[in-house]
Amino acid sequence: MCGIVGFIGNEQAAPILLEGLSRLEYRGYDSAGVAVFDGETGTLAVHKAKGRLQVLSDQLHGGADLNSTVGVGHTRWATHGAPSDVNSHPQVSRSGRIAVVHNGIIENYAELKAFLVAQGVPFTSETDTEVVAQLIEYFYEGDLLAAVSRVLHRIEGAYALGILCADCPEQIIAVRKDGPLILGYSQEGSFIASDVTAILRHTRQVSYMEDGEVAVLTRDGIRCYNRLMQPVEKEIVTVDWEINDAEKGGYEHFMFKEIMEQPDAIRRCISPRIREGEVVFEDFSLSENFIKAMRRIYIVACGSSYHVGMVGKYHLERLTRIPVEVALGSEFRYMDPIVDENTLVIVISQSGETLDTMAALREARRLGGHILSIVNVVGSSIARESDQVLYTWAGPEIAVATTKAYSTQLALLSLLSLWLARQLNTVPEKDYRAMLSAFQELPGKMEEVLSHRDSIQYFAAQYFNHNSIFFIGRNLDYALGLEGSLKLKEISYIHSEAYASGELKHGTISLIEDGTLVVALGTYGTLFAKAMSNVVEVKARGADVLALTTANHREEMSHTADAVMVIPDIHDLLLPSLGVVPLQLFAYYVALMRGCDIDKPRNLAKSVTVE
Ligand code: G6P
Repeated sequence: MCGIVGFIGNEQAAPILLEGLSRLEYRGYDSAGVAVFDGETGTLAVHKAKGRLQVLSDQLHGGADLNSTVGVGHTRWATHGAPSDVNSHPQVSRSGRIAVVHNGIIENYAELKAFLVAQGVPFTSETDTEVVAQLIEYFYEGDLLAAVSRVLHRIEGAYALGILCADCPEQIIAVRKDGPLILGYSQEGSFIASDVTAILRHTRQVSYMEDGEVAVLTRDGIRCYNRLMQPVEKEIVTVDWEINDAEKGGYEHFMFKEIMEQPDAIRRCISPRIREGEVVFEDFSLSENFIKAMRRIYIVACGSSYHVGMVGKYHLERLTRIPVEVALGSEFRYMDPIVDENTLVIVISQSGETLDTMAALREARRLGGHILSIVNVVGSSIARESDQVLYTWAGPEIAVATTKAYSTQLALLSLLSLWLARQLNTVPEKDYRAMLSAFQELPGKMEEVLSHRDSIQYFAAQYFNHNSIFFIGRNLDYALGLEGSLKLKEISYIHSEAYASGELKHGTISLIEDGTLVVALGTYGTLFAKAMSNVVEVKARGADVLALTTANHREEMSHTADAVMVIPDIHDLLLPSLGVVPLQLFAYYVALMRGCDIDKPRNLAKSVTVE
């Protein structure tokens, strides 16, 4: 969603802002803008354009046109008001002397706007953000920080803000409440950004703003204040991501690069956590008493992370015999969840910033649950608010459609299930050993699947013209189908649904007719015979069946299905981890053949920071 970059220092600001914004494009946006202080005229120069950042960058010749060393930039994902030049950020106050970039939603903006309109303040946009700019000006009496502080007492909602004022061009003010914002420190100057990829080129020294904090950036450094405007010392951490990790490195799309990176990402995530024949979590532990008293596990997440939870439920229940409930982040708060101090709440999030997941985490904490999060982005809000964190160490994921983050989350949750079972003594030694060696085999087997990607491309070429596709499977294959279907629909725009095969007869089968494409998942050996029956059923109604199964069952499946994607045999625990790879590739190649904008699918955002 919206991306913020701000810079004040010794270099020309606009090229830094535009380059930083280009690194945030992956978050999803529909317009872009920058505001810089023009020293010659003593005013703010604001430039905005609907559409791709390139449009704005071309207008400004990459920023060369704007002679200034202080400014803020923004990519907007529209919430209040359609994507347009006028609704783009920065939003400015009536005099044009205060400019604001904002990520989030000001929930009481209508009320505040009515108040300002009654005072004679004219509005030009439909955005909630303009209210912030106008209100700061309304309160401004020569002290910007004091005016911002008064505004913060009046606005409600979630926000990260970057504020620039023509009267005090030696500073940028940054504010954070429930929206991501980091501070960057370098010889060149001071930075704010929605995430670290935007400023990696300039610095790896960052600190994470806490909710309610206000920062004042100057050329020489950054001062931070808490809610009560008392100074706070920020811890500066060194980010270990490389700039190359966030670049395409010769690949046509980030999504493809990230699919191909999965074996290495799994190695990074899993290898250090298996030592001398045991699962070892150095970064995490649960007390023996808590584990013994644990009565229930909740898994809370959104999107693909939720699908990881759907697989995790099967693993955890099978291995630990503890009841597991999987809840969508957006539903959890409203379902009156049964959480107490004997509940483990596993929160899964790549970005660590998804607002609904964050809200669910807070609700679970309020109810007394123990919060363990599985997160990719180090220092993100969810990581910081959890009792404990397991990082996936997948590196930056740029494509909107998640692949390597999903895979590492799934591998880590599977490993966690095994670890819990070991602590509870619910897994026989022999099985424990078999599962551990399966983890060691996983990256190599993933590489094998990736090396046969031509066959998946061939199937994609056969089926890319379908308008509606069904993914069917049982148990682990059902959970896998949910992700396969989402991957396909989000980047290829083909209508696609995932069904538990047993449910077909309760309605969906009426939609199967000559030529309907059914992707039949039959990797789970225990239920293979049932998977075959469902293939026969849909075939009898005219469906084209593209199946996914293991090497073991390839032959049997080939007798009935029209085409078969094959993964190597592996322990059941890791079947979905391996099975997802061909489904990701299938979605990718289908989208490629349909000419879709794979890395930036329409209407979607990488990090969903509004409710
Ligand atoms: C967005 C992304 C998805 C992701 C979901 C949850 O919709 O496009 O790929 O699964 O958010 O994000 P999270 O960062 O919490 O895992």
